[in-house]
Amino acid sequence: MVKADITRDSTRLINDYRPDVVIHMAAIGNVDQCEEQLDLCYKVNVVASRELLTAAYRVGAAIYYLSTDYVFDGERGGMYSEDDAPRPINYYGLTKLLAEEITRALGGSIVRVAWIYGTGPGRPNFGKTVVEKLTRGGEVVTAITDQWSSPTLNTIIGEAFAKLLDAKFNGVVHVVGPRLSRYEFARAIARHFGFSEELIKPIRLTDVNYRARRPKDSSLNNRKAVELLGIPLNDIDYALSIFKRELETEKAIAKP
Ligand SMILES: NC(=O)c1ccc[n+]([C@@H]2O[C@H](COP(=O)([O-])OP(=O)(O)OC[C@H]3O[C@@H](n4cnc5c(N)ncnc54)[C@H](OP(=O)(O)O)[C@@H]3O)[C@@H](O)[C@H]2O)c1
Repeated sequence: MVKADITRDSTRLINDYRPDVVIHMAAIGNVDQCEEQLDLCYKVNVVASRELLTAAYRVGAAIYYLSTDYVFDGERGGMYSEDDAPRPINYYGLTKLLAEEITRALGGSIVRVAWIYGTGPGRPNFGKTVVEKLTRGGEVVTAITDQWSSPTLNTIIGEAFAKLLDAKFNGVVHVVGPRLSRYEFARAIARHFGFSEELIKPIRLTDVNYRARRPKDSSLNNRKAVELLGIPLNDIDYALSIFKRELETEKAIAKP
C-alpha cells in the first residue's frame, strides 16, 4: 500500500505505477466541511481529481469515478436514473459533479453511490452508529423522517466494482440500496439486529442544524445495476445480514 496526497502526488503516482485501472474514490466527503472550507474542497475534489484522472487517461488506464446522490437536488421525489440531469444544492455536490464532468470528458465511468454504511476505517457512518447506540443501550437514537436516499453497504460497493471491472463496464451506473428515509433505515437496523423499533425516535430535517443544505429525496434508481450485477441491491435484509457478520468479525479481531 502507498499513501499519497492527491493534491501533490497525483501525476507522479500514476506515472510511477502506470495502472491499467484507476478507481478514484478520494474526496473531501464531509458535506458540511465542504460548505465551510470551499477552497480545500475544490482543491481536492476538483483540481486534484482533474490531475489524477488526466494522468490516468495519459497512461491509458480505464477510469472509474465514485460519485454521489448529492449531485441531484432531491426536489422531485427521488429515484433518479442515470439519465436524469444533475443539479446540486450544496458545494460538495457541485464539486462531485464537476469531477463527474471531467470523468465524462476523459471517457471514464461514473459509479454513483449513496449514504454509505459499514465496518472498517474512516469517518463514523450512520448505520454503524445506530447499531453501536442500540447495543450500548440507554441512549436515544434519533433519525430523520423526511429525508430519503438509498443506504448502501460499503462491501457491496466493493463487490459491484469487482463485477464492473470484470465486465469492462463503461458508462454511468447507480450502485445503491433501496429508497429509505433515515428513520426507516434505522428501524430496519433495529429490527434486523433484534432490538425494538420503538427505540428509534423520529426527528425532522429542520431539527438538525446542518451547515450545508441536504437534498430532501436523492434516492437513486438502481435498476440498471441490479440487471448488470445480479446483486439483490433492493433487499435491505440481505445487506444487513452481511453488515452484521462483518461487525461480528470486526469485534472478534479487535478483542485482545
Ligand atoms: N459517505 C457517503 O455516504 C458517500 C455517499 C456517496 C459518495 N461518497 C463518496 O465516497 C468517497 C469516500 O467518501 P467518505 O464519505 O467515505 O469520506 P471520508 O470518510 O472523508 O473519506 C475520504 C477519503 O478520501 C481520502 N482523501 C481525502 N483527501 C485526500 C487527499 N488530499 N489525498 C489522498 N486522499 C485523500 C481520505 O484519506 P485519509 O483518510 O487518509 O484522509 C479518505 O480515505 C468520496 O468520493 C465520496 O464523495 C460517499
